Formats: sequence, C-alpha cells, structure tokens
Amino acid sequence: MKPEDFEFIVQMLRTRSGLVLGPDKAYLLESRLMPLARKKGFKGIDDLIDQLRRRNLPLEKEVVDAMTTNESFFFRDTKPFDHFRKIVLPRLIETRAAKRSFRIWCAAASSGQEPYSLAMIIQQEAQKLAGWNIDIIGTDISSEILKKARSGQYSQFEVQRGMPADYLIRYFHKAGDAWEISPQIRSMVVFKEWNLLEELRSLGTFDVVFCRNVLLYFDQKTKGDVLERIAKVMTDDACLYLGGAETVLGITNAFKPLPRVSSVYSLTRSTVPCIGAVEAAPGTPAAGAPMAAAQAPRPTALTAGRTPATTPAPGAGSLTPRGAAPSFSARGTPGAAPGTTPTAGARAGSLPPRPAAPAPAPSPRPFSAGTGAGTTPGTPNTRPPGGVSPRPATPPPGTPSPSPRPAAAPAPAPRPTSPSPSPLSSPTQPPRKTTPPFGRS
Ligand SMILES: C[S@@+](CC[C@H](N)C(=O)[O-])C[C@H]1O[C@@H](n2cnc3c(N)ncnc32)[C@H](O)[C@@H]1O
Repeated sequence: MKPEDFEFIVQMLRTRSGLVLGPDKAYLLESRLMPLARKKGFKGIDDLIDQLRRRNLPLEKEVVDAMTTNESFFFRDTKPFDHFRKIVLPRLIETRAAKRSFRIWCAAASSGQEPYSLAMIIQQEAQKLAGWNIDIIGTDISSEILKKARSGQYSQFEVQRGMPADYLIRYFHKAGDAWEISPQIRSMVVFKEWNLLEELRSLGTFDVVFCRNVLLYFDQKTKGDVLERIAKVMTDDACLYLGGAETVLGITNAFKPLPRVSSVYSLTRSTVPCIGAVEAAPGTPAAGAPMAAAQAPRPTALTAGRTPATTPAPGAGSLTPRGAAPSFSARGTPGAAPGTTPTAGARAGSLPPRPAAPAPAPSPRPFSAGTGAGTTPGTPNTRPPGGVSPRPATPPPGTPSPSPRPAAAPAPAPRPTSPSPSPLSSPTQPPRKTTPPFGRS
C-alpha cells in the first residue's frame, strides 16, 4: 500500500470512529481491507481507496466496520460482573425502589455478550424486580456486529468462554450448531448503532455505564472527550466500568477511581455516594487494597452470577453493600437516588418473579423490547420475545456437564484477567470447565 493511501485511510478511520492506527499497522489494514475489496468487486485495495477518496460514505462505513475489533465474551474479566451483581444491583434495587426503574448502557456492546451477561444477572433477581422498568441498551458503531448481537446466537466456543454452565442451561438452547439465548433474556436488551464520537444526550440518562475495551483504540484527546460526554449522561450516583487496560487517570477529571475496586469509576462532580462504592472490610488494609473478591475463594467465570452463599467467604466483606449487613438481599429502603433522572418514554419491561430454583427453564416473561420511544432511541430486537419452551434439565450433547460440586471443593485456580485486546488478537482462553447447577440459594 502506498504511504499516502495508508495515511488517507488512517485519517479517515480516526475521524469517523476514533480508531488510531500506528505506522506499524499497514499489514492489519491490508489484511482487513482485502476481503472487503474483493467482496465489493474491486480489483484491489487501490481501487477501494480511490472510491473512498470520492467520499463514498457507505463504503467508508464498511471500512470502519471491517477495521473494528469485536472481541468480546460473556462475563469478561469476571470481576466487573461480580461487582455489579454484589454491589451495584442491590443498591439499584434499594435506591430506585420508589421509581422502580433504572437504565444500563453498554457503550461498545459488540456481539452482545456484555449486555446479555448483565441481563442474566438481573434476571436472577427477577423476584425482587417484578414490575420494574429496566433498560439495558447496547450500542456499537458496527452495524454488522450488532446483527450478531441481536441474533443472540453464539458458537459452542463462545458460550464456553466465560459462561457459567448453569447460565448456559438456564438461558440458552441449541439452534443447530449454535446456542441461542432465550427470548426472555434477548428481549431485555435493546441494541442500537451508535458512534461514541457523536452526541450522546439523546440516549437518555444512565445509572450504570459499561464502556469497556474500546477507549484503548482511541488517542488521548478522543478518550477524554468521550469520557466527558459519557459523564454528562450519567446520574450523579452512577458508576462507569472501563476495561482492565483502560483508565481515566491522566485523561479526564470528570471521573475518579472507586477505592478498593478496579476499573470502576464514579463522577467527580457528584456530591452523593456512588452506587458502586465498596466499604473497606474491617481489618483490611485501607489504601490501595485490591477488591477483596480477589482474596476470596476465586469466583471463576463459572461461578460469576451465582447467588452468593449466605455466609460470606473470607475476605468477601469488602464487597458488602455500603452500610448494609453482609448479605446479598437488598433491604428495600424506598427513595429514589438523588440526581436520578427518570427517562421520559423509557421502554417498559417488567420482570415477573423467577420460578423457584432450580427450575430447568424460566417461564415466559412479558419483559418486552422497547420501541425506542422517548429519549431512548432504541431499536427493538429483530425478533420479539416469545415464550420459552421448557427445556430438559440435562443439556444437549456438547454442554459442559453441571454436576454438583462437592461441598468442600477446593477453590478454583485464579483465572488471569483477559489480555488487552490487540487488533489481531485471537481467543486465548481454553474452554472452561463445569460448574454446579444454579439455584440453590
Ligand atoms: C473489543 S470490543 C469490546 C466489547 C465489549 N465491550 C467487551 O469488553 O467485551 C470493542 C467494540 O467497540 C466498537 N467501537 C469501536 N469504535 C467505536 C465508536 N467510535 N463508537 C462505538 N463503538 C465503537 C467496536 O465496533 C467493537 O465492537
């Protein structure tokens, strides 16, 4: 590729998507653009670039799509989802009890594993959330990857990568070679094509934002600009999750790291406590201590999302909801969180109680995908929610067997956090092992 062509594409990508490609990434550009050039019937990349120089906007979009890195997996990195489940969700239930609604945004949702992981966690609390309106919005710049997200279909490898087997049994069914997420969970998430470089206000206001593993592709200025605009669409007590290789430090003052929790941030402007704040456990070092879950018997991806045992594991105290007894149950104090902005016209979805565990299949639920009315320009998923037909308690062949774990099973070995995605990264994690069935809490 000619240097001036490389420069041209790099500039176009930066302007359109924020993606920064260094001079050493010419090979990446070529390997991603060649298939596109062929698909579009060009003789080679030169012809494709000629078209781009003529401001062929649909083609520009396809080039951006081709250059995005869509690596994602269920319960990625485990800890953010443990933190959401143990700290943030109980607080949302407590502080939003009066208005019975909250909104979550996955700002670079890719193929959907992140918002669906959150939906499954929330569904586990369906009993407490009966009648609530909960929005989970997944946005991404890539329309192609959003098609996959909306389909809710994943390969065997994708569902084994980070997915607790009990969740697989409960929330997925086989569709040919693929695993398809239940209509119930799929209907809880609305996907929408959205560029983080564009205005965000029309998305509405959010109580929780996941913006993970996308900022690392941007330059410093773009990171700061995006973060500052995200801050403006967050409620005062909201929290922001970034990827493990990302930070706000040295980039913006709009956020500050939450003590004792990695990769979770609160708003600097706020005068109210953040719903993600974690109290220091008695007897644990105060400053710079890692999230205590790291010291507890390791909740692997296979246990993420499982209702915790009544007796907290040693060291789990620092994941205790602020000011609450170390129990998982929200105490239901009514009162909307300060600064919470109800979303006008927000999609209504109500969660009926979850069937008594361990039900093999959840019953159909009228939690409907939104129409995108009001401030949430959500697009309904391609297929409306339907009933979930009962599935056998034993999964089809190929499912990791969820045999009960002996009571004194040794703690699983710590799982390394995922490597920061490189544009060419390929999955490195081996398929995960089995887990006990869910629903004994
Ligand atoms: C590596 S994936 C991260 C997926 C998920 N958040 C996770 O951590 O598993 C990055 C995603 O960011 C999206 N993306 C890149 N630039 C974007 C932009 N300017 N606006 C919105 N999404 C963008 C890509 O299309 C890609 O799907």
